[in-house]
Amino acid sequence: MSEPVAYELDADVAVLTVDNPPVNALSRDVRAGLADAVARFERDEAARVAVIVGSGRLFIGGADIGEFGKPPMPPALPNVILAIERCPKPIVAAIHGSALGGGLEIALGAHHRLALAGTRLGLPEVTLGLMPGAGGTQRLPRLTGIPVALDMITGGRPVSAARALESGLIDRLADAGDAGDARRAGIAFARELLADGTARRPSGERDIAPVAAEVFGERRAALARSARGQVAPLAAVDALEAATRLSLDDGLAEERRLFLELMDTPQRAGLIHAFFAERRVAKLPGLQGVEPRGIERVGVVGGGTMGAGIATSMLLAGLDVTLIERDEASGARARETIAGYLDTAVERGKLDAGRRASLLDDAFRTGVAHAALADVDLVVEAVFEDMDVKRELFGALDGVVRPGAILATNTSYLDVDEIARATSRPADVIGLHFFSPAHVMKLLEVVVADATAPEVVTGALALAKRLGKIAVRAGVCDGFIGNRILARYRAAADHVVLDGASPYQVDRAIKAFGFAMGPYEVSDLAGLDIGHATRRRKAAERHPRERVPTFADALFEAGRLGRKSGRGYYRYPEGARQGEPDPDLERVVAEARAAAGIEPRAFDDEEIVRRCLAAMIDEGARVVDEGIAARPLDVDVVFVHGYGFPRHRGGPMKHADAVGLDTVLADLRTFAASDDHFWRPSPLLERLVAEGGDFQDLNDESVA
Ligand code: COA
Repeated sequence: MSEPVAYELDADVAVLTVDNPPVNALSRDVRAGLADAVARFERDEAARVAVIVGSGRLFIGGADIGEFGKPPMPPALPNVILAIERCPKPIVAAIHGSALGGGLEIALGAHHRLALAGTRLGLPEVTLGLMPGAGGTQRLPRLTGIPVALDMITGGRPVSAARALESGLIDRLADAGDAGDARRAGIAFARELLADGTARRPSGERDIAPVAAEVFGERRAALARSARGQVAPLAAVDALEAATRLSLDDGLAEERRLFLELMDTPQRAGLIHAFFAERRVAKLPGLQGVEPRGIERVGVVGGGTMGAGIATSMLLAGLDVTLIERDEASGARARETIAGYLDTAVERGKLDAGRRASLLDDAFRTGVAHAALADVDLVVEAVFEDMDVKRELFGALDGVVRPGAILATNTSYLDVDEIARATSRPADVIGLHFFSPAHVMKLLEVVVADATAPEVVTGALALAKRLGKIAVRAGVCDGFIGNRILARYRAAADHVVLDGASPYQVDRAIKAFGFAMGPYEVSDLAGLDIGHATRRRKAAERHPRERVPTFADALFEAGRLGRKSGRGYYRYPEGARQGEPDPDLERVVAEARAAAGIEPRAFDDEEIVRRCLAAMIDEGARVVDEGIAARPLDVDVVFVHGYGFPRHRGGPMKHADAVGLDTVLADLRTFAASDDHFWRPSPLLERLVAEGGDFQDLNDESVA
């Protein structure tokens, strides 16, 4: 294996190259290698200036996240960076690709910084429940001032090299290029500095530009509203404020103290679980080495909101799209919808106007006959959710689409095996369950039916990656992973309302837990007709003991469909996006309780959350036990990316591990005492508790 940090001389320039694939993370060996290389440079009389570069696709991707939560191993990163900063000879950081977290902190410790155009520089620690712990909060504001540092550190989003130059974070911008270009540009810059006699400029010795003291209070107030209970951004504000009052040494000590406190929080554990789960989710046992079916030309059938969103997502990823609608007027409407989505992408700076035009003119066309799909590599169907409609469509596609193409349904609950049987080639059929709006939401459930061929599955996973989406494999059942578990969670919420809590209290409690929206806000957004139709569909097979949220049907029957009708659980005066409580709601709910002979009782917020979460976790365990989800981590990724579950809690299964499976099981048994039809602990949960195991054990066992 090559050295993690190589030292070589280019005449009088020492080049220190970090080489730790895939992202040059600052593992123990890299830290030790850097410390040695800096000491060697200091001693090396032939070297007058040093340049730190990264090999491969980026400079340095940050601390080694895999080491978090384990005993620290010296040398500590802050000390390595101090050695860089205090080196009596000048050191330049030459950055390409990305400099993130500890990687940017190393660059901040260097005396001069150069970045290639296209580089991203950031301190994303808050996204992992942490804050910079190796000088980032103390050195960055000395270069950029407090407002930019507050944005970068509390937001966690990287900035472009051009923005970094503007704000003073870097000193020089060079042309875009690879690691070799960064090395060449870094050496040339270092020689220029020597020739001009430019002195070392340690960031830590500079003064911070003064700011009004209110800046910090205002930021805390804004974060209290936006951070959904996350503590790390607030700790980062404390560290930045400390930078304005303390010496560098004292500020660094305060930063370290706050950093170590965060390292011990469950939020840090939850966010790092989410980080690794997102990367593991596409690595499925049994699919190694299975060559994916190639996809370049795509057909989309149906141009409603869903079909148009899917087509937009495909176009943005550079795929060629033919969209089929029932007549030309509908096709024209679908084109309008897609054009609107692309306009928004242009407005947000994600697409340039020229490319927008060429996507619509060259890569997209509409048609009315299925024959137009004869040569595509993939068809995604997004028509009405009805089995007869889908079977007929798949039968027709079977007759025209070339052999070897993938036939996908975007159904959100129908039986994909049955749809596959409508064709003569069930091995080519798969479910691709996009979430609305499909060009925005990152989650994609890849529903694998009994006969689906492995290369169709890997083809779908490769497609998801190209679309920039996170794919989760799901088995066939009503609702797959997400909607099936959601239905249990929703039912638990409805029971709490039937038994005495107001929908507003439920929404408040769920949001205080960290969800983006409460269940009744979600109903208003989706439309109350959706839930009503589902209840009608399932009414025939309903168990007599199943409790029905008759208040939801009463609202539906009164024409209160949610946002789209201006009134649902909330009122939306004049198309307002934010609903306001409706004084009449309590009457509707009270009538439903009275009709069911229920004596309402009070709930505290904690019990509401425990009930909703216990239902979600228990159904999650069943979904894993039945093989619908490959591992608990797959359930976590679905809920974090598709249903607004608070990322800092890692997902429902990670949350269950954090509170303890025995506690969850005890809750389920307590709830079962008053309703043993709905509350029945899953066999997997009971087994894990009996064995003293947890969901993480199941994640660890499944190594792809
Ligand atoms: N420590 C340890 N492993 C890391 C890592 C880190 N800081 N960053 C990435 N990895 C691993 C990933 O887990 C993945 O491993 P795998 O191939 O076994 O799944 C691999 O490196 C590639 O990462 P991936 O995210 O798939 O590559 P990418 O090119 O899409 O993105 C980064 C590269 C660096 C932008 C991205 O990985 C990232 O954002 N990393 C975290 C950066 C960060 O938060 N640093 C601050 C730490 S406090």
